[in-house]
Amino acid sequence: MLVALSSLALALSVANPVAAFIECNVLDYGAKADNVTDLGPALTSAWQNCVIPQVTTTVATNVLLYVPAGNFLLKSNVVFDDAANWNLHIAGNIYLPYIPTLTGTMLTFENCQNILLNGPGAIFGNGSPLNPSRPRLIRFQNCNNCEITAVTLYDAPQFHVTIIGNNNVAHDMAIIASHIGETDGFDMSGNNNYVHDVSVENGDECVTVKTPTNGFVAERITCKFTAGCNIGSFGAGDTTVNVQNVFYSDVTISNSDAGIMIKSYPDNIGIVKNITYTGFTMTAAAYPLYISAFWAGDGVDTGKLAISDVTFNNIVGTGTPTRPAVLLDCNKATPCENIKFSGVSLSDTKANTFTNACGSGVSGIPAC
Ligand SMILES: *[C@@H]1O[C@H](CO)[C@@H](O)[C@H](O)[C@H]1NC(C)=O
Ligand SMILES: *[C@@H]1O[C@H](CO)[C@@H](O)[C@H](O)[C@H]1NC(C)=O
Repeated sequence: MLVALSSLALALSVANPVAAFIECNVLDYGAKADNVTDLGPALTSAWQNCVIPQVTTTVATNVLLYVPAGNFLLKSNVVFDDAANWNLHIAGNIYLPYIPTLTGTMLTFENCQNILLNGPGAIFGNGSPLNPSRPRLIRFQNCNNCEITAVTLYDAPQFHVTIIGNNNVAHDMAIIASHIGETDGFDMSGNNNYVHDVSVENGDECVTVKTPTNGFVAERITCKFTAGCNIGSFGAGDTTVNVQNVFYSDVTISNSDAGIMIKSYPDNIGIVKNITYTGFTMTAAAYPLYISAFWAGDGVDTGKLAISDVTFNNIVGTGTPTRPAVLLDCNKATPCENIKFSGVSLSDTKANTFTNACGSGVSGIPAC
C-alpha cells in the first residue's frame, strides 16, 4: 500500500510539479513602474529570456510573465509569436500614451496555444476619436485554447479584444470605453469559442461573431451604449462567409445603436445558418432584431449569401419609436429562410417590416 501511494504521488508530481511555478517579473527586464518607461521592450525581454526557456509543462499558470502592481506605460507594439503554455499576469495598471503615430495592435499573441491573460490589473487605452492612427488593444491571432479573464480594459483607441482561433474563452471581465465608433468589445471567429459573464460599454460592437465561425456560445453578457451583439460584417465584395451554430443567451442590451444584427454586404458569398438568440432584455435598443443583406456595399442584389434557421426566443423590452422591432431586409435571389420568433415582446417601436424573408412567430412575417 505504501509503495502504491508513493508511486501515485510520484506520478502526480511528474504530471503537475508544484515546484514549476516561475515568475518572470518585468521589473527584472528593464520595466519601471514610473508610467514613463516603455513596458514593451521589457515584456519582450522577460518573455524571451525568462518565460520561453522555463516553460516545461502545459499548465499555463506554472510560468508567469508578471506585470506587478504599479503604473506602467506601454508605447510600442508587442508580439508574442508561437507562444504556448504560459500566463501573462497583469497585476498593475498599463497606460497607453496619446501618441499620434502609435498604431497597430498593442498586445498580439500569434500562432499561440494555451495562453492565459489575466488580471486583476487594467489597461487604460487613452482612446480618443482625435487619435489619427488608433492602435488596437489585444489580439489573439491563430490561437487555440487560450483564455482572457479578470483584466479590465478602458478606452482602447480602437478594437479591444479580437480572438481568431479555436476553443478560446473570454470571461468575467469588463470593457469600459467612451461611446465612439470602431471600439468593438469582443470580435470572435473560429470554432467553439466561448464568451461569458462579460460587460461591455462602448460605441460599437459588444460581443460579435465574424467569419468563419463554426460553434460559438455567448452567455450572461451586458452591453451598454454599444452597437449590439452582431454577426458580421464580413468585409466588402465577394468575401466568403461561413457562420454556423451560434448560440447567445442571457444578454442585456441598453441604449444601443442595434440589438441583434446580422449584417452583410449584398455581394458576400456563403452561409449563415443555425443561429439562436434566447433570453434578451433590451432597453432603448434601436433596431432590436435586424437582418440586413445591405448593411454596406453598393446595393447590387447578387443573392449569394444564404441566411437561414435563425431563432429569436424570449426577447423583451423596448426599442426606439422610429425603428421597427423586427426588420428583415434580405436578398431577393436568396431570401432569408426559416427565421423563427417566440416570446418576442418589444414595445416603443414601429411596425415590423419583412423583405425577402420567411418564418414564423411574429405578426406579418410570411410563412416559408
Ligand atoms: C500614465 O500616463 C498616461 C499617459 O501619459 C496618462 O494618461 C495617465 O493618466 C498616467 N497615469 C497615472 C496614474 O499617472
Ligand atoms: C445548432 O447549433 C446549436 C448550438 O447553438 C447546436 O447545439 C446544434 O447541434 C446545431 N444544430 C444543427 C442541426 O447543427
